[in-house]
Amino acid sequence: MKIIHVVGARPNFMKVAPVMAACAENKRFEQCLVHTGQHYDEKMSDIFFQELGLPIPDINLEVGSGSHAEQTAKIMIRFEEVVQQQQPDLALVYGDVNSTVAAALVCAKLNVKIGHVEAGLRSGDRTMPEEVNRLVTDCLADILFTPSPDGDRNLIGEGVDKQKIHLVGNVMIDTLVRLLPSAKERWRSEALEQFSRFDRYCLVTLHRPSNVDEAKMLGSILSTLNTLSLRIPIIFPIHPRTRDRVQTLNLEPLSPDVHCTEPLSYLDFLALQTRAALVITDSGGIQEETTYLGIPCLTVRENTERPITMEMGTNILVGQNMDDLYNAAQEILDGNVKDSEIPPLWEGNAGKRIADIIDTL
Ligand code: UD1
Repeated sequence: MKIIHVVGARPNFMKVAPVMAACAENKRFEQCLVHTGQHYDEKMSDIFFQELGLPIPDINLEVGSGSHAEQTAKIMIRFEEVVQQQQPDLALVYGDVNSTVAAALVCAKLNVKIGHVEAGLRSGDRTMPEEVNRLVTDCLADILFTPSPDGDRNLIGEGVDKQKIHLVGNVMIDTLVRLLPSAKERWRSEALEQFSRFDRYCLVTLHRPSNVDEAKMLGSILSTLNTLSLRIPIIFPIHPRTRDRVQTLNLEPLSPDVHCTEPLSYLDFLALQTRAALVITDSGGIQEETTYLGIPCLTVRENTERPITMEMGTNILVGQNMDDLYNAAQEILDGNVKDSEIPPLWEGNAGKRIADIIDTL
């Protein structure tokens, strides 16, 4: 059976690694890895391949940045040729990025079976490009691998045939479990040396268009971080999208206790998460990683497609009201931290479950 895996953006790489590793154990499977090139910087892509032990992609479509339509269309045009040449039996697509939906559309038209890893997540907010990508991908997929029972419920509610849905757990946590020991050794790495003097710190990531694209919102988040940094140092690895906006929007300068860095590698960022007093983010994956690690997380969004991280985990949705963010951060720094648990099947074997299900096809 020939399986083609399609990845393109940073959060895809941690998800494909455990699935490829598990599939490599099965002699029936032949694998091909396609990188769309949606993310192309060394720090957004190459370093992840090295640290995660991923093979060099068999094919790189080198699409780069562009508007949503441009990026999606370029991936479709270039990926269609690949599918025609490779003739896979199954395409696996990951998460909710533009590369995911573009590859799914191509395969649906060429009658190639599609498996969606991380299916069923819904924020209910169609202004988010990722929500559109999730809805379309799940609608086209033949096999839907969900990370948590809410995913199954959402899909069933949308009329997806139960037979197609498989609750397998969280592949991102597979990678975390495997690499946590290596991450813990990174504390003295070159990238983190400058932070080793901090006993306590708050870790921040922001890149959602709804938070960073407009001056008013981004300005008020940065000003809240400035105020918070009077109490605790802040470490802020800046996503390229956010860096561009900070440079072009002419905002209040960041205080010296907000320490900005380039995007960090997987291991360095994981090392920072394990020791953080608090994480403030708008990322999807970081809501999950902090829940696994038991680190308090404040999510600067009005909704989340990962409600289990709030119901069981350490995540609190603070929305886009900066007073709420500030007050919730103070509570946590005062030691008022909510109880949390790791969701079922978030233990490191999701990739193996996916490979076993594919083997029955
Ligand atoms: C994408 C995903 C988002 C995911 C995020 C993780 C979509 C719709 N969004 O958002 O779900 O959480 O990746 O990072 O697919 N850029 C660089 N170098 C790179 C990549 C991007 O400088 O290697 C810059 C470009 O200016 C680009 C901008 O970042 O225009 C945004 O990149 P893009 O891939 O379009 O979306 P992300 O915001 O990264």
